[in-house]
Amino acid sequence: MLAPKHFQISRPANRIWKSEDRLAFEPDGRPEEVEGELIRLKVNGQERTFDGDPEMPLLWYLRDVAGLTGTKFGCGKGLCGSCTVHKNGEAIRSCETTMQAAASTEIITIEGISASNGALHPVQKAWMEIRVPQCGYCQTGQIMQAIAMLKTNKAPSDQDIDVAMSGNLCRCGTYMRIRAAIHEAAKNLSAANQSEKERA
Ligand code: FES
Ligand code: FES
Repeated sequence: MLAPKHFQISRPANRIWKSEDRLAFEPDGRPEEVEGELIRLKVNGQERTFDGDPEMPLLWYLRDVAGLTGTKFGCGKGLCGSCTVHKNGEAIRSCETTMQAAASTEIITIEGISASNGALHPVQKAWMEIRVPQCGYCQTGQIMQAIAMLKTNKAPSDQDIDVAMSGNLCRCGTYMRIRAAIHEAAKNLSAANQSEKERA
């Protein structure tokens, strides 16, 4: 365990974090001094440390500290899925995951799912083939949720998809295209696995 480190922060009681709250983490105007610990985590394969409020939502860290703005803020209450990222391989809502809860974990965001050579993830490719997005706001969350689902269910039925994706809302109503893209991605992933097996 690392030595406690002093930092200052305003800690609003009983309130939802909003984008203005990031101001609480800037050097000026910090009204209250509390004690915290250095938090270590891995984001998209990169080791990172954080010495701010352990109660700060991971979503704020990703967007405002790490500059990974592909993950979106929607409701801030775990209800819409637009902030979905992977924590140790599982889809989570980063708006309701504290930095403390993210300590010592591996976080993957939409920026981290492509191959090291820049090739798109098969789910991203399927999204493009089917032309899923409309306004696009919810889509990173949808893709992260779909990738997590396909890890455990390689040939999902329509119903499996509807259940797994039910927490990811889309104001533009792209649900049918999302479903089609997940089927397409599952097919492509299965074909890729098959040809890998044949090569081995
Ligand atoms: S912003 Fe996290 S679930 Fe809506
Ligand atoms: S594409 Fe617009 S909210 Fe989903």
